[in-house]
Amino acid sequence: MGVGEAANAILDLEGVHKHYQTDRVDVHALRGVDLRIATGDYLSIMGPSGSGKTTMLEILGLLSPASAGTVRFQGRPTSGLDVTALAHIRSQEIGFVFQAFNLLPRLSAVENVELPLVYQRSGGGPGGRRSRRDRKERAIEALRRVGLESRAGHLPGEMSGGERQRVAVARALVNDPAVILADEPTGNLDSKTGEEVLSLFDALHEQGGTLVVVTHDERVGARAARTVSVRDGVIERDD
Ligand SMILES: Nc1ncnc2c1ncn2[C@@H]1O[C@H](COP(=O)(O)OP(=O)(O)OP(=O)(O)O)[C@@H](O)[C@H]1O
Ligand SMILES: [Mg+2]
Repeated sequence: MGVGEAANAILDLEGVHKHYQTDRVDVHALRGVDLRIATGDYLSIMGPSGSGKTTMLEILGLLSPASAGTVRFQGRPTSGLDVTALAHIRSQEIGFVFQAFNLLPRLSAVENVELPLVYQRSGGGPGGRRSRRDRKERAIEALRRVGLESRAGHLPGEMSGGERQRVAVARALVNDPAVILADEPTGNLDSKTGEEVLSLFDALHEQGGTLVVVTHDERVGARAARTVSVRDGVIERDD
């Protein structure tokens, strides 16, 4: 690997295996995965149900440890990091978008988007915390980026599915993460509202964002610059 390449990599899986093992189950979900995600990549991960896509995304997102192999974030192995350090990287550098939106129903759009900033310690006032006003300004700015400034005061139940998912994308963006990881982001949307989310991903990619999208949606595969096909826990194709 060249030096420039290493500096460019945000996430890097090398020989990664994942076993789910309890007294009841024993699944070898990933069987030697090598995957490098560089700044500015727009990558779709596709494959049949049960092939290991979500497992791979959870390992990329430092939500779940590999059973074997190396996971590097910005060039550094993550295996020695404790839960606090991992949580710090996740909250500062990784934006997550899920199929089910995962918005809090009693909070408005802007309050949902602010949440990652509430848990953030650095960058704010003298105590290290961001001031309320600063948080709100940043959340509004993130809503503006997804075209939903006008819905800032709406509760999730007062928005369309596509709008809810765009709020979830704004929440993923608000910390200005190094990478956005999305698992079936259009899975609960019809084709038209799904299209709103996909256009948004296109725009983020054009602005230099790094996106990894697990999906069954052929449209994502068609738009992403790079498609990784997974089958039975291994990468079958990467192009
Ligand atoms: N927590 C778990 N415990 C045990 N087995 C699991 C667990 N999570 C996933 N698996 C198994 O690991 C394999 C890969 O699951 P994974 O969720 O990564 O698939 P996927 O490709 O995301 O599928 P889908 O397209 O249906 O979402 C499956 O066989 C699944 O049954
Ligand atoms: Mg899945």
